[in-house]
Amino acid sequence: MTSHTHLVIGGTGKTGGRIVSRLQARGAAVRSASRPGFDWGDRSTWLPTVRGATTAYVAYATDLAFPGAPGTVADLARLAADSGVRRIVLLSGRGEPEAQRAERLLADVATSQGIEWAVVRAAFFMQNFSEGFFAGSIAEGRLRFVAADVGEPFLDADDLADVATALLLGEAPLGRVHEVTGPRLLTFAEAMAQIGVDYEQVTAAQLVDDLTGAGLDDPSALGLVELFTAVLDGRNASTTDGVSRVLGRAPRGFAAFVEGLADQDGAA
Ligand SMILES: NC(=O)c1ccc[n+]([C@@H]2O[C@H](COP(=O)([O-])OP(=O)(O)OC[C@H]3O[C@@H](n4cnc5c(N)ncnc54)[C@H](OP(=O)(O)O)[C@@H]3O)[C@@H](O)[C@H]2O)c1
Repeated sequence: MTSHTHLVIGGTGKTGGRIVSRLQARGAAVRSASRPGFDWGDRSTWLPTVRGATTAYVAYATDLAFPGAPGTVADLARLAADSGVRRIVLLSGRGEPEAQRAERLLADVATSQGIEWAVVRAAFFMQNFSEGFFAGSIAEGRLRFVAADVGEPFLDADDLADVATALLLGEAPLGRVHEVTGPRLLTFAEAMAQIGVDYEQVTAAQLVDDLTGAGLDDPSALGLVELFTAVLDGRNASTTDGVSRVLGRAPRGFAAFVEGLADQDGAA
């Protein structure tokens, strides 16, 4: 059996943190990377980060769909392969042309370098409501967002982490894109009703203001709102069997996520 050192880029984030915990629970050697030790914007930090690792999970920040991200991720993958990484799992998003370009670039780099690859192409995370930019406003009882009456198959980041961990450990099929969603479509208003908060649809400009007010820098806020507006036009309003194909069980539903939030509140 090959002994692996798993590098988790974005290891303090919503998905990376869960993957680090899972790998540690399996007794695997794992290294978490984020700032200041690893910075996407400072290439001098890349080689010390990838050196010695044999697999890598890559969650690009701020977002894989942002301009320039695909090329940057491909450059990192090339460096990682040169330094001994043999398997790369990339986190991607559904319905995002730039992210799909990053997926193709990763597959090309991996194929040309003779290493294994996989992509986890994910739906909108449930945990955006509890750990992301929207957690603060939801805690205050409402969500202001751009989505109209469109269905989204919200995905539990725990399911994503289970899938990615299986891929890193070589326990799920490599060399392909795994498109993962939750079990059913909900509108944002329906999802917020389940959490028990109000939903208010706002314009893109209003949401940019909200996000910058919450501390996000201008380019990230603009880029994210543009992305949300694009991917919530109905193109992602379908479910996939990606989670059950890898894990042999159904993905968790939104009600279970909401129960988990209530349990956390009760324990606090
Ligand atoms: N949210 C969704 O619904 C969704 C759906 C599909 C795909 N995605 C993809 O998910 C990715 C983000 O993954 P995530 O949600 O797990 O992460 P996250 O919760 O947004 O956390 C970001 C992670 O990256 C690190 N980070 C931030 N800026 C960095 C930088 N300049 N250099 C190095 N590390 C940096 C953060 O740590 P520090 O701040 O400490 O550096 C943290 O570990 C994006 O590429 C997005 O396209 C998201």
